[in-house]
Amino acid sequence: MHFQLSEEQLAVQQAARDFAQTELLPGVIERDTHQKFPAEQIRKMGELGFMGMMVDPKYNGGGMDTISYVLAMEEISKIDASASVCMSVNNSLVCWGLEKYGSEEQKEKYLKRLATGEVVGAFCLSEPEAGSDATSQRTTAEDKGDYYLLNGTKNWITNGNSASVYIVIAQTDPEKKHKGINALIVEKGMPGFVVGKKEDKMGIRGSDTHSLMFTDVKVPKANRIGADGFGFSFAMTTLNGGRIGIAAQALGIAAGAYELAVKYAKERKAFGKHLSEHQAIQFKLADMATQIDAARLLIHKAAFFKDQGRDFVQAAAMAKLFASQVAQDVTTEAVQIHGGYGYVKEYHVERLMRDAKITQIYEGTTEIQKMVISRELLK
Ligand code: CAA
Repeated sequence: MHFQLSEEQLAVQQAARDFAQTELLPGVIERDTHQKFPAEQIRKMGELGFMGMMVDPKYNGGGMDTISYVLAMEEISKIDASASVCMSVNNSLVCWGLEKYGSEEQKEKYLKRLATGEVVGAFCLSEPEAGSDATSQRTTAEDKGDYYLLNGTKNWITNGNSASVYIVIAQTDPEKKHKGINALIVEKGMPGFVVGKKEDKMGIRGSDTHSLMFTDVKVPKANRIGADGFGFSFAMTTLNGGRIGIAAQALGIAAGAYELAVKYAKERKAFGKHLSEHQAIQFKLADMATQIDAARLLIHKAAFFKDQGRDFVQAAAMAKLFASQVAQDVTTEAVQIHGGYGYVKEYHVERLMRDAKITQIYEGTTEIQKMVISRELLK
């Protein structure tokens, strides 16, 4: 075992850090305030290879490992978690799932454009009455021979309006329960597909979260991913990898807040000395740094297992469970260290504290991660 990143991994980390500082930082407060999607920045991230990092170069991807991906996710998330959730969904849920389970035709038609960021993808599983309880899909995909007739509503969909390609999970045969579910590729503009209202969120306000409505949308059979009835398994397997990305996002939010807290503690004086010279602050920083390092180790372990082709379900769930709690704790302490300044937008930590919460909710809540981990432990 060694703890040394390769030259290539270090270069990816540096490139993501530079991009975040120069391109994402300048407008991040404004985008958060006005709920503005970072369209231009995402386009540039695509040009730099951040939107299809792990995809095989023959499909226009970066051909990188999962460690490189989590390093980039951490750096982007330190500055702008709204941009990083778009990146995470496109990389882990859309590109990865399509590359692993899609047909050659689907890869040519969709993956090649998704991997460059020319178009953005969305992953549509959650519904008004099926969030954690994902097997209870109400959206239906009726088999009509050459096509599926898609009807239903999806909720809280990341990249809901900015995406062009949507992977939609829907029930074809209710009698078969989760074994009768399919995953279909739906394109924006297909008749009957309407993007619904944009959510006004507590955090990751620059990200584009919408409900989606499908009314008699004809989806060609060629757009089904995998065999008939494979859709739920597809969703679960894809989410296992997605959780590593979201864990890295949580880590980045925590690390970003920690770095700001250290900087502030070295600059700000109280009672005649810098905050960093007070033991009360030193101990907070020591706890924060330890939590961050532990989260990073869990995440890198999960990414390493995935790259090795080993079972990473438990490792990914543990990484997300732990890192999302670290994001809560560290951002709250970062605001506390900043005092009154921490409560205003200019100092960034209040945004990071708001952004942190969602990492305990999406791609499986904290409670779902505990369910996944305990099932793995006991099976
Ligand atoms: N990996 C692979 N397969 C899994 C799995 C996993 N982690 N968890 C369950 N499965 C499989 C099971 O093996 C089973 O398949 P078989 O019958 O073929 O063996 C099938 O899925 C059903 O599993 P259960 O019988 O355990 O079903 P359940 O209803 O008791 O539990 C659940 C299922 C694990 C709770 C699942 O519903 C779940 O993961 N819920 C959370 C959903 C989620 O993460 N949503 C996130 C939305 S996407 C998002 O947030 C993206 C974004 O925008 C950022």
